[in-house]
Amino acid sequence: MTLEKQKQAVAEAAVEYTLKHLDFDSYLGVGTGSTCNYFIDLLAEHKGRIAGTVASSEQSAQRLRTHGIPVLDLNGVDEVQLYVDGADEVNPHLELIKGGGGALTREKIVAAVAKEFVCIVDQSKQVKHLGKFALPIEVVPMARSHVSLAIIKLGGEPVYRENVITDNGNIILDVHRLYPMVSASTLEQTLNNITGVVCNGIFANRPADTLLVSSRKGVETISAKS
Ligand code: 5RP
Repeated sequence: MTLEKQKQAVAEAAVEYTLKHLDFDSYLGVGTGSTCNYFIDLLAEHKGRIAGTVASSEQSAQRLRTHGIPVLDLNGVDEVQLYVDGADEVNPHLELIKGGGGALTREKIVAAVAKEFVCIVDQSKQVKHLGKFALPIEVVPMARSHVSLAIIKLGGEPVYRENVITDNGNIILDVHRLYPMVSASTLEQTLNNITGVVCNGIFANRPADTLLVSSRKGVETISAKS
């Protein structure tokens, strides 16, 4: 099975999971990226079943609206019962690196609000230690040099993502040489403490609750509780 087919398979499994676990009057968080795009397209077949969604990016909001699926402002929603999103890397503790698509800040906000965070990946994203994927960090534009120097002091190698402005009007630095992240949650906090950093792509303090992972053999469900 190709990686593309594995993305489709895990997106199908995520739709099934959503239909089974999302209450009729509850709101669904929808993430960003190519795996989530499959999820959105398949979800559209069941749109009558979804009370409303909140999206982690303008791109996903647009795709949802194109399908006629309602998208709400997070501030107008009392609770997000389920949040479905992809990842760039996931370790055995269901800690993640996210932000390959540049949507990390809104993704982290929706994940923080959600009662259950369901991460959907193909097997290529599973790692023992995070950090081979360059860590995306969203930065206020005027703080780019200051943040870069602080990251270099921590041993990282920041690379400015050319021609990208986030939905929040900021820039992205992709940080190399952070592998292996032995304590991802400590590094997440350390990076957050650098003035000018809006958000970093480590999801360790709020990891996924459930992982759906596709491989050639099919889709496996892994719960953080198990
Ligand atoms: C976007 C993300 C995505 O979830 C992550 O990059 C995975 O994307 P894809 O499903 O295209 O591999 O964090 O900011």
